[in-house]
Amino acid sequence: MSNTIIVGLQWGDEGKGKIVDYLTESSDIVARAQGGSNAGHTVINDGVKYVLHLVPSGILWPTKKCVIGNGVVIDPLGLLEEIAKIRSQGVTITPDNLFISEHAHLTLPYHRKLDLAREKNRGANAIGTTGRGIGPTYADKIERQGLRVTDLRNAAKLAQEIEWRAALHNMELEAAGYDRINVAEVVVEIEAAAVELRPYIVNTVVYLNEAIAAGKKVLFEGAQGSYLDIDHGTYPFVTSSNTTAGGACTGSGVSPRKIDRVVGVAKAYTTRVGAGPFITESEEMSDMLHNMGREFGATTGRARRCGWLDAVLLHYAVMINGCDHLAITNLDGLDGLATIKICTAYRLDGKVQNHPPATIPELERCEPIYEEHEGWLQDISGMTKYADLPPKAKAYLSRLSELAGAPVSLLGVGPARDQTLVV
Ligand code: IMP
Repeated sequence: MSNTIIVGLQWGDEGKGKIVDYLTESSDIVARAQGGSNAGHTVINDGVKYVLHLVPSGILWPTKKCVIGNGVVIDPLGLLEEIAKIRSQGVTITPDNLFISEHAHLTLPYHRKLDLAREKNRGANAIGTTGRGIGPTYADKIERQGLRVTDLRNAAKLAQEIEWRAALHNMELEAAGYDRINVAEVVVEIEAAAVELRPYIVNTVVYLNEAIAAGKKVLFEGAQGSYLDIDHGTYPFVTSSNTTAGGACTGSGVSPRKIDRVVGVAKAYTTRVGAGPFITESEEMSDMLHNMGREFGATTGRARRCGWLDAVLLHYAVMINGCDHLAITNLDGLDGLATIKICTAYRLDGKVQNHPPATIPELERCEPIYEEHEGWLQDISGMTKYADLPPKAKAYLSRLSELAGAPVSLLGVGPARDQTLVV
């Protein structure tokens, strides 16, 4: 198989990092195309835990190339910190295996500050962002006043380019009662970061297209999930990029005609971080999973909200992404349950609804319609073959696949590399 897009089908944290890591073996290049350091991909390899925010997880493979594409927003200070951390764990990162798009936009310290200030000013309407400056960076991009990676190349003009933008944002911060950003300090920090990052900057659109023309296989590593998509998610409780399959093309400059397959990743249940509607949310599920030490965010450490599998969302996400296959993760999280629920439809104002409605008030009025499945009540985390799974676990997966409308090809029964089963 050649060029593959991996997307999350829920609200992020589906375990995409692990599936990307698994599929990297048969790829040459791993590319990120959207999002920024709001993402947190955890990969456990030989007992070592790597947490990646901006660097594609292909970096953990010595022979693979990694691309941070044009659609990503890059915090240069955060990226350098991340590179240093991964290097300290023994991973090699050089301009020969990491390529950063000259077209990507930069998250500067004022974006982080604006993110926090805007969240605070929203009061009860806060989104619950990761505080990584994502929204303000994409807002600047769309407003056509963003600073791009290519600007880091021009040492003579960099200070000037930062200064007028920072002045603009300082006006907002000051008007809202926050401290101004120290522009001189930002300039010094970014100028230093520019020196370190320059060797990695290339035209990744050309790099990727030439590689594809030469027969190389690209794996597009999606960040966040379909319901955090700026167009298709539970707006406004979303992130600021297109997290769905189309975003991989615009965010990399690779044509949809070059994509061979889309793999959707979903947990065997549902989680969400931050505010916003969550129809199948369940206190019982949250308590159980948190007591197992699971479902705490890789980026912020926040406890995730947990609930039953929502097949209405899953089916819709399979449709908008055009998933050929599903990778279902965390099936072992359901090991201890005697009864497992799946939401097959919603009831909204007395009517049965098979697609998620568009507005938050409607989503909040939806009641889940559940069907119940018998649990397998057995530890499956040590299983290495799909054939060995308890019949009740297979029945649950088979129903999930039927409701979602796509076959399950990979199954996660634990965080480690060898806990990924081929179905
Ligand atoms: P932002 O992307 O930091 O602006 O946050 C917007 C929303 O997306 C919040 O609800 C975040 O919790 C959520 N979010 C952003 N990135 C991730 C992620 O990688 N996993 C899960 N949720 C995320």
